[in-house]
Amino acid sequence: MKGLYRIGVMAALATVSAVALSQGAGGPPSPEAQAKAAIETRQGLFKVIANQNGPIGAMLRNQREVDTALVTQRMERIKVLSEMIPEVFAMDTRQFKDIKTAALDGIWNSQADFKAKAEALGKAADTVLAVSKTGDKEATLKALRENIGKGCSGCHDSYRAKP
Ligand code: HEC
Repeated sequence: MKGLYRIGVMAALATVSAVALSQGAGGPPSPEAQAKAAIETRQGLFKVIANQNGPIGAMLRNQREVDTALVTQRMERIKVLSEMIPEVFAMDTRQFKDIKTAALDGIWNSQADFKAKAEALGKAADTVLAVSKTGDKEATLKALRENIGKGCSGCHDSYRAKP
């Protein structure tokens, strides 16, 4: 009987702590708090994408020598990061007009097109990669010029509010 009693007490304690957890500091996160977190996450992803693209921009502006190995590394990373874009926009935040965001409503009105534009960035990175892996600096610079900026602006033009 002692054993059963212990199990009973433990089950009761587990129930109490589960209730306490779910009610936490005022219950589960509010829809506003969830939207704020989702917006911060996606903005964070773009901060990382821009950070990875930084040396590429410098090469395009002739402020830095073309380094094909670095281009390969950054394109590989941007490709992986681009795959996360649709995921971090899974939460539809259109109704939360008080939270600062540059994301336009069209993202959720035409999700397939938005996803296609994220994939286009991945394809642009792939195109550059194929060239940068050859080690040809001139050809790499040309591939960057023709692909990567468009990969960003192709989406920003439709789905990011102008500052
Ligand atoms: C598929 C669409 C898409 C692609 C591709 C894309 N962006 Fe964006 N970007 C957005 C949207 C939408 C926002 C606004 C996010 C928000 O404010 O909630 C944004 C915001 C940003 C921001 C501002 C982040 C912040 O601090 O709030 C930067 C920087 C940025 N993008 C850089 C880039 C660069 C660089 C590329 C290309 C290498 C790129 N983006 C490709 C859609 C895209």
